[in-house]
Amino acid sequence: MLEKAKGLPADQIFMDIEDAVAPIAKPDARKNIVAALNEGGYGDKVRTVRVNDWTTSWTYRDVIEVVENAGPNLDCIMLPKVQTAEQVVALDTLLTQIEKTMGFEVGRIGIEAQIENALGLINVDAIAASSPRVETIIFGPADFMASINMKSLVVGENPPGYDTGDAYHYILMRILMAARAFDKQAIDGPYLQIRDVEGYKRVAGRSAALGFDGKWVLHPGQVDAANEVYSPRQEDYDHAEMILDAYDYYTSAEGGALGAVMLGDEMIDEASRKMALVVSAKGRAAGMARTESFTPPEA
Ligand code: GLV
Ligand code: MG
Repeated sequence: MLEKAKGLPADQIFMDIEDAVAPIAKPDARKNIVAALNEGGYGDKVRTVRVNDWTTSWTYRDVIEVVENAGPNLDCIMLPKVQTAEQVVALDTLLTQIEKTMGFEVGRIGIEAQIENALGLINVDAIAASSPRVETIIFGPADFMASINMKSLVVGENPPGYDTGDAYHYILMRILMAARAFDKQAIDGPYLQIRDVEGYKRVAGRSAALGFDGKWVLHPGQVDAANEVYSPRQEDYDHAEMILDAYDYYTSAEGGALGAVMLGDEMIDEASRKMALVVSAKGRAAGMARTESFTPPEA
């Protein structure tokens, strides 16, 4: 898996020492991860390691062993089951000490905080604001479902009996608000039915629609689906670029210095431009090409 991840069109890879690793295998996992990071080959993918959470006895060893031995080849530490801002501060402090001791650049390694239980969710604002190292807030649906006693075994899908709305809407929105308020990325967690790509797209579609930046993939078969769902549709990308060009033109002296103008049957103004900037940034980041261009009206 460490090898295969190198060639996948994913923006980020994360290597796990937490729940995908049996307790007796954790010391070996640390060593394998250090070796893989130092061997390299992950291109410009963000390289992240998920350590164990602070309620275990493993966290400090995970962080010290991985960061001391592979720090310069690592971009972020993912901290699971974060419940309070203090837990992030503790990791930040430990990272700073290791960076100083080893002579690494202080503060370069980021933190991704996973929200996986009720306490973490009600503290998510403080968690997002707890350290400049925090880059990303991640929803951990499996642990979260267990922590709130949700009556379901299928991660991310509406639980049986909940047939109106989306059972995760509040959680997703709560995380998204904290992320946007403090300028962090919001990332959706795993979808465990790895052969059900349609199911993946259905669940991913909900967080993507709200504004999440991406979602985990557990298997190479989910990568294309993720890239598709979190990118704009071609027609929306084209329309966003069109709004930007048209608005640029109409607000200029040449275009009449207007603030609110008609583009086809739609009125566009400064707020339209801001919405278009979001969609166009997502499309550009995904490497999309526009298929229409704006032509100013004949003078
Ligand atoms: C991920 O860690 C999850 O619990 O969903
Ligand atoms: Mg989890």
